[in-house]
Amino acid sequence: MPESDTVILDIDDEIATITIDRPDKLNALNVETLEALQTAIAEAEEADVRALVLTGAGEEAFIAGADISYMKDLGTPEAQAYAELGHDIARSLETFPAPSIAAVNGYAFGGGCELALACDLRVAAENAVFGQTEIDLGIVPGWGGTQRLPRLVNDEVARRLILFGDRIDATDAHEYGMVGEVVAHDQLDSRIDDLTADLAAQPKFAVAAAKEAINQSHETGLEAGLEYEQRVFSGLFGTHDQREGMDAFVNKRDPEFE
Ligand code: COA
Repeated sequence: MPESDTVILDIDDEIATITIDRPDKLNALNVETLEALQTAIAEAEEADVRALVLTGAGEEAFIAGADISYMKDLGTPEAQAYAELGHDIARSLETFPAPSIAAVNGYAFGGGCELALACDLRVAAENAVFGQTEIDLGIVPGWGGTQRLPRLVNDEVARRLILFGDRIDATDAHEYGMVGEVVAHDQLDSRIDDLTADLAAQPKFAVAAAKEAINQSHETGLEAGLEYEQRVFSGLFGTHDQREGMDAFVNKRDPEFE
């Protein structure tokens, strides 16, 4: 990828890890960083990886949000462009053709929380703090928080978080269903390694198909979603992994997926 001072893309063993590297600003996302992040996600997709991990550099922050110093003097057209850029990135995490995982290692506020919400899975370190804090700045979430948070947690929890801008710790975020698991800070990397190793051993096309079908459940009505599932399910028949998975079962051996 083109050199970026603030975004690191590392691809190892078919796993992409993107680190926002702006620790002196708690990994807040200015335009340059967002554009580099957009490029890094596209490159990870091009590399056909089996999982994508998003995390933040340093000990304190995942991503402390959109860059407030940049936003403070924007007018509506510029704010619209900034929102579109953030939305585009969130959507590319959501529709990434392999599972995306937010490794939340500290503050995840505003746009940082929203990018975590756009990932398939969220693993939080014990020191993580979450918040849709935009209301404190006189605005509302602008990178999908008003839409994705109520789909993930119960409606009242979403309303309270967005209306009051509460900052909640990892335990509460887990209790509300915002994160799948909480681990000790020094265990975060190894837990992510375990999860990505498990994903890398799964049948790749079935994992991608499962993700797409689950995404559809948020986008269409039940009937259309059920039809979509049938197409995805039947489309996997005849693939190497379907033949291999079922042959392995009937012959009582471990499958070897592509
Ligand atoms: N945008 C721009 N800069 C940010 C930022 C953001 N979202 N979050 C933190 N920073 C910068 C601070 O301005 C400071 O820069 P400076 O050293 O040049 O002054 C640096 O990061 C460290 O932050 P600081 O506030 O001094 O650290 P802290 O430990 O006292 O507080 C937070 C940490 C996360 C609680 C606090 O920075 C914060 O509330 N940030 C804003 C979070 C937010 O509202 N995000 C949503 C944006 S839509």
